[in-house]
Order: sequence, then C-alpha cells, then structure tokens
Amino acid sequence: MEYSDKVMDYFMNPKNMGTMEEPDGVGEVGNPSCGDQMTIQIKVEDDRIVDIKFKTFGCAAAIATSSMVTELARNKTLDEALQLTNQEVEEELGGLPPIKRHCSLLAEEGLEAAIENYRSKQEGNS
Ligand code: FES
Repeated sequence: MEYSDKVMDYFMNPKNMGTMEEPDGVGEVGNPSCGDQMTIQIKVEDDRIVDIKFKTFGCAAAIATSSMVTELARNKTLDEALQLTNQEVEEELGGLPPIKRHCSLLAEEGLEAAIENYRSKQEGNS
C-alpha cells in the first residue's frame, strides 16, 4: 500500500495535534469498522474557528486526514467549515489508497460533531 508523500508528512509531523484548555466545542467520533477514534476541539470567535486541535487513535490515514482537516478548517466560519468534505481533505493530501478512503470520514465527521456541539451549547445559553 502506497501513501503519498504528503500523507506521510502529515502522519509523521501532524499539525494541530493535542488538546486545548476550555474548548468551545468538542467532537468525538469513532469508526465502527476498525475501532479508531478521534477527538476535535474548536475555539470559536464571531462564528469563526480561531483555534483547532485534534487527537486521533488510529491508522496513518486517520491521523493524516485529521491533521489536514484542522488545517483546512482553521480561520473558516462555522458554515464554511461544515462544507468541507472528506474528498477535499483527501485531495489536499494527494489521495489515499482506495482501501483507506473510509478513514478520511473520521476527519469530516469529527469536525461536524465539534461544530454541532458548539452550536448546541450556544442554544443552551440563549
Ligand atoms: Fe481505522 Fe483507518 S483503519 S480509520
């Protein structure tokens, strides 16, 4: 199985990996077929993602796509971030081997879950 150089780079040197104190939204998702899990935390100001972190327990493709989705979502409005798809994440990484495509779903779903969590907390506060 061949990973692109970019996938290997994002796997070996993931950007935005870790946790933050007092995130505004947290998304936790899992891939039922393999058991891999990811958490995304976001900081939101004026409806825009100003900081974002991830932690993924999973395969190289899951880690690389998690890292890439945090790069793509940073500084986007929440609505713009919701438009990001796992295909876009995959394209930015120069593609994934076909049997690893499903791994990129974690990234898209984790971001969506973090935004939903943020929005549900806002509704609770209003
Ligand atoms: Fe589980 Fe890749 S094998 S996300």
